[in-house]
Amino acid sequence: MKLFIDTANIDEIRIANDMGIIAGVTTNPSLIAKEGRSYKQVLAEISSIMAGPVNGEVQSAHDASAMIAEGREIYNLDPKHIVVKIPMSAEGLKAIKTLSAEGIPTNCTLIFSANQALLAARAGASYVSPFLGRLDDIGQPGVELIQTIADIFANHPDLHAQIIAASIRNPTHVTACALAGADIATVPYKVIHQMINHPLTELGIQKFESDYNKVFGAEL
Ligand code: E4P
Repeated sequence: MKLFIDTANIDEIRIANDMGIIAGVTTNPSLIAKEGRSYKQVLAEISSIMAGPVNGEVQSAHDASAMIAEGREIYNLDPKHIVVKIPMSAEGLKAIKTLSAEGIPTNCTLIFSANQALLAARAGASYVSPFLGRLDDIGQPGVELIQTIADIFANHPDLHAQIIAASIRNPTHVTACALAGADIATVPYKVIHQMINHPLTELGIQKFESDYNKVFGAEL
């Protein structure tokens, strides 16, 4: 399973990218709004940093023709990197069909059921984004949805969409998604740090240092 970072913050993207752990970026209108800059500026800057896919979401979510026009604009910011995120809906599926036919990669977002994922993949989406944290929030098992979609896609090799496990809230989600068969998990910066850190690692580093220094002294 690959990892993307789920943020529009340039500093977070640079730090994660410098560690060599992320293969792409996902943003959404809420994450862009937090940065207080236009989505075009932010997406263009992210694309200049990242080697992999940069997901930018359309702001107009109700009408296929508006989503198609905006999708083309977003894509043209950097056709080498940009993936256009389109929310799941009947209009969204129409937009996915048109954009995909033009060779524009799309990510169908706000997926909360296996059937929605199936429809998005059939419409031509390159990626589907099931939101497990938001399902957990309403008492439905988010990881089971990832597993179900992975099983369906494995049973039907003519479905080519990749599964991006989204709305990840903790490191346990990441492990569970890897086991469930997600192709990608898009992980917030805070969760990346939770994945890196372990109290026994910290203690181990301190002990190695102090054992060494007791004998040889600090050599810096
Ligand atoms: C995915 O692409 C979305 O940006 C994201 O994962 C949403 O997560 P949230 O439920 O934490 O807002």
